[in-house]
Amino acid sequence: MIVPLELTGLTRVFATPAGPFVAVKDVNARILAGTFVAILGHSGCGKSTVLSILAGLDKATYGGVIIDGTEVTQPGPERAIVFQSPCLLPWLSVLDNVAVAATQGATPRSKKEAYELARFYLDIVGISDCAMQMPNELSLGTQQCVSLARALVVEPRFLLLDEPFSQLDSLTRFELQDLLLRVWEASGKTVILARTTSTRRSFPPTPRAPDQRPLSDGGRSSTPFHFPRPRTRGHGAGPSRFPGGARPGRILGTPPLIPPQRL
Ligand SMILES: Nc1ncnc2c1ncn2[C@@H]1O[C@H](COP(=O)(O)OP(=O)(O)OP(=O)(O)O)[C@@H](O)[C@H]1O
Ligand SMILES: [Mg+2]
Repeated sequence: MIVPLELTGLTRVFATPAGPFVAVKDVNARILAGTFVAILGHSGCGKSTVLSILAGLDKATYGGVIIDGTEVTQPGPERAIVFQSPCLLPWLSVLDNVAVAATQGATPRSKKEAYELARFYLDIVGISDCAMQMPNELSLGTQQCVSLARALVVEPRFLLLDEPFSQLDSLTRFELQDLLLRVWEASGKTVILARTTSTRRSFPPTPRAPDQRPLSDGGRSSTPFHFPRPRTRGHGAGPSRFPGGARPGRILGTPPLIPPQRL
């Protein structure tokens, strides 16, 4: 079985004035292509640290990340990350923000292709109407849609999500989570999502790290979920707040997620 992404003995020790601080200790995982993996744990347990190392933005002290048999030492176009807060370029329009990212992928693109692809992914995340707006004119939820479009436009194999919806109200968060699931199901990408959880009721049995300890599993706490899809929320899904019951994104079930040049 080919395992495209492996975490092997991933450990991160930070040097602090008080001495070495172990933020992540001996995390092991074998992540198969097309899976949706959630890293769950309390605040400060090391989720972002793991994602930063996965993204190539930070380095493990011991162990590491292996993609297709090669150790990750720097960022690469096969990975894209969405952070908790939108990191958009404030002097560029929404469309320009996404088009700039389109030129960062593995495939070289002309300016025309980059803009076509940018428009395509803005449509996928349901914010085509905002293409010419500036980031500071948008709500936080819409800014995070732009962030998601910026990550998707790179056409990464691995989509790394560091609590991208945690600052949003519940309804917007549910809608963007649904959008994300549709994108995942349509694209077959491997998604790794960090999510703070403070209750065991959220995902029983949860692979949550024990309180006040670094994220550390030694391969023991990962828990596969075999609940069939589509799933329904136990509570809070509620009706859409959009006119006519519409939801953001192509709600799609409609056109497949195929970029323009492949149509
Ligand atoms: N550069 C650094 N130097 C020292 N300590 C750090 C550094 N970066 C992170 N830490 C510490 O490592 C631990 C893990 O941090 P991290 O941001 O990965 O946690 P997290 O699980 O993502 O938390 P949250 O849910 O609040 O986002 C924290 O205790 C944090 O203070
Ligand atoms: Mg974090």
